[in-house]
Amino acid sequence: MSETIRNAGTSARHLGNGFVRTVDGAAWLYAQLPAQPPVRDAANWTDRERNARPLLTLLPRIAELTPHIPFAGRKAMKGFYREIHILAVSTPEPFVPSGKLDMASRIRLQREYDNTAVHDRFTLIGVRLSTGGGKERRSVWRRMLGALNTITSLDALGIVEDSAFDHDRDTIAQLFQDAGCTIPSNAMMRRALAWWRTDRKPEIVPVMVEHEHMHTFPDYESCRRAARFFDLGGDCRTWRDHNPYSYPMTIVSLGALPFEGQDEREVQDSDWAASLLAQGRGGGQGALCLSVRGLLEPGDMSREQIDKDKENVYDKAMQQAMDGHKRNVRVAGELAAVNDVYQTGERPWPTLIDARVHAAIPQIIDRPTQVLYPGEVSLNPDRQEAAFQDMMIGSPVAFNPSPVYWPVPILAYAGLAGRSVAGDDMGRGAASDLPGALLGFTEADLQPVYVSPFESREKHDPPCLLVTGATGSGKTRVLLHIAAQLAQLPDPYTTKDGVQHPRMVPYAPHVAEDRPHIPIVFLDPKPNSDDFTGFVRKRHGTIVRLDSPDANGILDPLRCIPDRMRTDRVQTAVEMLSQITGGKHGDRARELALTTIISYGTAHGADCLGEAVDMAYEAYMARGSDAERIDPLVEQITPVLRRVVRSDPMFQLIYGTRHGGRSLAISQGLTLLSAGTLNIISDKTGSSAVSDIQRWVVRMAALGATAAIMGRNGVLIVDEAWSLLGDEFGVGLVTRMGRLARAQHYLPVFASQKVDEFVDAGLEDFVGRGLALGMGVRNEGGSTGESQAQAVCRLFNQPEDGRLHERMMHARVLDTESEAPDWQSLYALFDPADGRLLRGTICYYMGVDGSAIPVEVRISQDLI
Ligand SMILES: Nc1ncnc2c1ncn2[C@@H]1O[C@H](COP(=O)(O)OP(=O)(O)O)[C@@H](O)[C@H]1O
Ligand SMILES: [Mg+2]
Repeated sequence: MSETIRNAGTSARHLGNGFVRTVDGAAWLYAQLPAQPPVRDAANWTDRERNARPLLTLLPRIAELTPHIPFAGRKAMKGFYREIHILAVSTPEPFVPSGKLDMASRIRLQREYDNTAVHDRFTLIGVRLSTGGGKERRSVWRRMLGALNTITSLDALGIVEDSAFDHDRDTIAQLFQDAGCTIPSNAMMRRALAWWRTDRKPEIVPVMVEHEHMHTFPDYESCRRAARFFDLGGDCRTWRDHNPYSYPMTIVSLGALPFEGQDEREVQDSDWAASLLAQGRGGGQGALCLSVRGLLEPGDMSREQIDKDKENVYDKAMQQAMDGHKRNVRVAGELAAVNDVYQTGERPWPTLIDARVHAAIPQIIDRPTQVLYPGEVSLNPDRQEAAFQDMMIGSPVAFNPSPVYWPVPILAYAGLAGRSVAGDDMGRGAASDLPGALLGFTEADLQPVYVSPFESREKHDPPCLLVTGATGSGKTRVLLHIAAQLAQLPDPYTTKDGVQHPRMVPYAPHVAEDRPHIPIVFLDPKPNSDDFTGFVRKRHGTIVRLDSPDANGILDPLRCIPDRMRTDRVQTAVEMLSQITGGKHGDRARELALTTIISYGTAHGADCLGEAVDMAYEAYMARGSDAERIDPLVEQITPVLRRVVRSDPMFQLIYGTRHGGRSLAISQGLTLLSAGTLNIISDKTGSSAVSDIQRWVVRMAALGATAAIMGRNGVLIVDEAWSLLGDEFGVGLVTRMGRLARAQHYLPVFASQKVDEFVDAGLEDFVGRGLALGMGVRNEGGSTGESQAQAVCRLFNQPEDGRLHERMMHARVLDTESEAPDWQSLYALFDPADGRLLRGTICYYMGVDGSAIPVEVRISQDLI
């Protein structure tokens, strides 16, 4: 069955900075189109316009380089049109952990994500260079002759010297730069010359050509293995299962688009290239590469041509193409109409003519309808190789089954360039990357996404990370997944002897770090929550359960607020006892009275409230010399408190009675602080003493954990954070964290299904980053009447009619009878037949720049 094994990708040579010479002597200059903002995950039309702008700027200016020759016919002029090539690449390659991480973390990630592919995703634009130009200004006619007589500058091999292109090269380079394009790296050009090779060092590559598709391989060895496999009668479709980086590949050619320009839904299809290149799991086609080649016809020439095409038709095919062209001109007009900035007024857009558009799809395609393209698709049976060659940089082959005629906006709005990236390290080795936890991979482009605890400190952004999602959406799992990784991170601001540095000291590239790890506290206030102890233990974490017998006084303000915050300590203790014994908030007389009682105790060495109150009580009752310093309230409250603490295990947590009991010492690494069986979450409206005690337990847990990690570059994660926001004190506590966390060097993370409470609490200003998970169909309205999904969009400045809002409200399954997974939803998806995990949770990563990018999170098996 297998036909030929051949090398490919040898038609051109890259000489640096995007300059390419081809086998037939031509020269091209390639540049990288800006990758931001993405089109697939564009927040709104403004993003789409920004993405289209580079091509809308560049292509007319390239077309303007065409000499204007009076009275020359279109056919004659065609020889002067500039040839362009757009190559959008998305090749899978093995995941490699970020170089910003310490060695141990890199080794761990490499092992955990061993079989994970990421995509090398970028888009190049190339322009074929012409010779001549330079100082002497020759007339157009002279230049026309010059084009025929390049003999003068041929070198010994009969090839035009590189320097002959210098002038044009400078001109094109300037146009590239003006449009925001960048010079491609050598690695990128190597990939572009061998885009089908799934390797981090793409070189010349074997491919296997069959009648209706081809096969590509990461190396010669797997190519030979495949040849044996097929010779023994193996099925092409299953070969991929044997070797994840080998693909059957179909090269399809894309023809005229049916755009009529009227229907809004059809204009939405204008981002066809972005859909073709997006990953299949994210609802795209997952194309490996898309190549567009053609001649750029200046706008006035196209217009002339359209006006007189009736008499000028060459043949039927041309006629059809022109009909498509006319329709496309209409759409282009509409697309461009929205874009007033770059509307060139009366001047018509240039047109890409005789264009060849091919896509390499990593699957065997038997029917054109399998291709996500709104126009004509040809499958190229028996012409796979020709089409494949035509995609290549410097290809000597032109394969032109269905040429298209596209005015520039059709091309610019197609979404050929644009990469969905997110996080504080996007896996591309940028200098600004920060060490963090690998959250997952972007849904559309499989780019790694890292979350760093040092973002706010380094970049001066608001400190809080907010995680939103309905119960069951995956918040807790996603957070534990991050927490476990961060707990392994050595503190980049501290040396091994514990000395703090104001600046981050990068990790050593090759040796294990002996600096202390940063502390991570995970506060899980949910009673009888899933048991994560196994998960935490396996990662050498510490577990503090509030229902364990030795938890007495562990959240007592006198014990868990450190000595250096002495005033805070007494103040908090006073506020707490005042509320629990007096019922209402802010009773001055009671607060003053309690201050005398507690201060007496602390002055005499008490390390918990029960002890302090007892000491004051004894001294007061003995009527000793310092008794008058103690308020008589002590006589009334002490017997009450003694009774309560004996009967209420929850009160024992915040009101310690044993001197020297356990304190909330947060060491390095992960600490899980869990409620156990205790119900510490109060009913919001409850005003009983019990609900006051519950609230104080949650607050003291948050406050104690904060105090313990302050200044240590750690992370405090508060799950079910709404449990803190029931009243003024909790709100005050949370906003204080928001205000101070950056200066106090820790990252506060809050997870909640009630987003509006955060907004009501005024926390908006302190939220820098966010993760938005599914809200589900129920998605109740909050205090202001808007739904939680709307509140998420508002909080993160996202449109309420966009994809994010819609996807948040999809349920896990399409219907409860079939249990068929809904791939639009953000929930983790399972196979209804065997319960296998099909896809992890999707969370939208909300960046400080206002982007919202869906990221798939695959968590460890022991968390499911
Ligand atoms: N990334 C994931 N991969 C697989 N399953 C997940 C993932 N995240 C969540 N789940 C599933 O969803 C369920 C609910 O997750 P959980 O984190 O408890 O949600 P929440 O905290 O938002 O209520 C888990 O029991 C698990 O089965
Ligand atoms: Mg949870």
